Amino acid sequence: MAELRIEELTAGTISAANSLTLKPGQEAFLEPATYTDAEQQLDPAGSWPRVIRDGDEVVGYIMGAFDQDAPQEYLRAAIWRINVAAEAQGRGVGRFAIEAFADEARTRGFSRATVVWASGDGGPGAFFESVGFRVVGQTPFGENLGALEL
Ligand SMILES: CC(C)(COP(=O)(O)OP(=O)(O)OC[C@H]1O[C@@H](n2cnc3c(N)ncnc32)[C@H](O)[C@@H]1OP(=O)(O)O)[C@@H](O)C(=O)NCCC(=O)NCCS
Repeated sequence: MAELRIEELTAGTISAANSLTLKPGQEAFLEPATYTDAEQQLDPAGSWPRVIRDGDEVVGYIMGAFDQDAPQEYLRAAIWRINVAAEAQGRGVGRFAIEAFADEARTRGFSRATVVWASGDGGPGAFFESVGFRVVGQTPFGENLGALEL
């Protein structure tokens, strides 16, 4: 694997980011109901969409959101979306993206990053726990609320 890089999402990378393939069964986990419900609250000024490149190829996408004033803690320094191309999974791309998000959150003065995921086979729970998130509760939609101390 060439060196991984993270870049802001641009008009030039949006279609590659949107067409990343998933493994069978992963689609159901891509957008937790908690976030779908909160979408209206997303402050565009705080959104942090990034692509991960391996060499020239876009192999992953992460969308973070920062909102110091969000009433729900899980929307303050949150990972709204992360996905890695099926053929690039299991090689550290997801971990790299989470570390970049954690660095950004630290720079912005946050001491905790959060992510929400649904339980189930093929879901991302083991990944989030491997990279340091701990389940600290459930959202009103019954999904896992994970927190990473920064
Ligand atoms: C979840 C996802 C982003 C992980 O990306 P990835 O690049 O494959 O993950 P990495 O290779 O960086 O793995 C990091 C660690 O997590 C572990 N891990 C990753 N996926 C795992 C799985 N399905 N089961 C168990 N462990 C897993 C790896 O073993 C690795 O652990 P280690 O570093 O201690 O060896 C990717 O599988 C994906 O795109 N899934 C579909 C979309 C999705 O569910 N997104 C989350 C929405 S909330």
